[in-house]
Amino acid sequence: MIRTEKLTRDYGAGRGILDLDLKVPKGTIFGYVGPNGSGKTTTIKLLCGLIRPTHGRAFIDDVEVTPHNSHRIKRLIGYMPDIFGVYEQMSVWEYLDFFCAAYRIPVKEREKRVQSALKLTDATYMLDYQVTSLSRGMRQRIGLARTLLHGPEVLILDEPAGGLDPNARIEMRQTIQRLRDVGKTILLSSHILPELASVCDLVGILKKGQLVAHGTVAEITDSLQERLILVVGVDSEITKAVRCCVQFPNVDEAIASGNEVRVVFSGTRGELADLTESLVKQEVRVTSLREEEADLEQVFLSVTNEVKSEDA
Ligand SMILES: Nc1ncnc2c1ncn2[C@@H]1O[C@H](COP(=O)(O)OP(=O)(O)OP(=O)(O)O)[C@@H](O)[C@H]1O
Ligand SMILES: [Mg+2]
Repeated sequence: MIRTEKLTRDYGAGRGILDLDLKVPKGTIFGYVGPNGSGKTTTIKLLCGLIRPTHGRAFIDDVEVTPHNSHRIKRLIGYMPDIFGVYEQMSVWEYLDFFCAAYRIPVKEREKRVQSALKLTDATYMLDYQVTSLSRGMRQRIGLARTLLHGPEVLILDEPAGGLDPNARIEMRQTIQRLRDVGKTILLSSHILPELASVCDLVGILKKGQLVAHGTVAEITDSLQERLILVVGVDSEITKAVRCCVQFPNVDEAIASGNEVRVVFSGTRGELADLTESLVKQEVRVTSLREEEADLEQVFLSVTNEVKSEDA
């Protein structure tokens, strides 16, 4: 549904985005993450046709994003910018009606569209509120409702959870999931990774304008995690178990905790079998072996580390 081919916008001095190949299938939520200044907003603006690429191409539902196709692209996309203005002295109803008019939705149909957008964003009760009186979280939901008015297939949301408190973030996540469930394809950006991990079907990690990882959360953590953390349960002397683990090649650390040993392992998965075999041979009775969940945030920090340390 969203596709780019070597999409590039060069702002000079290494800024912008370079040769980006993205693919977001229909009906999925794609989390686009990267540190500040890595190029998320630049990509989003290119996808919406707000800026032109230096080279490369972008497609929405196989329609190339070009000035010539701008009308079709606008119908396909609902775009929520990272910062959007609200209009003073307007009720939510007037605000959304105004955007219906901007989308040239016939007067007769507007009420239905507004109601349906508010229902999807769980904001029906705000209909008569003044826009200026809304909290940040409420505003974000009205901003999201606004992107739905013309019934777009694709939603492109730049930092939809930016500035929201934890509760409002959870609500935003639920709303985004609901929109996926009604068939929308969603690209959302964030520089805070954990808030995305639970909601995204696919994640792309951007670093200095280049995609350094792309796939499901599990694929990314698997491919990028350099060290596995294993928790080995034992039913025998714990100090002996620790000693055996430490002696094994590629074990960087082994720490006892109750009747478990926490092992930091930098070998391959195949070698894990050798580790258990070696423990058994040395008469350590293994009762359980589990891998500690990889933490996507740590992976994110490790792949974007260079940028972080330069920033520091
Ligand atoms: N109009 C512009 N002219 C020159 N450089 C620009 C322009 N817009 C963006 N940049 C540069 O391109 C890089 C990427 O910026 P972009 O806004 O896409 O980052 P981002 O990932 O959205 O960051 P953030 O998390 O802060 O929103 C930055 O170095 C920025 O300074
Ligand atoms: Mg941005």
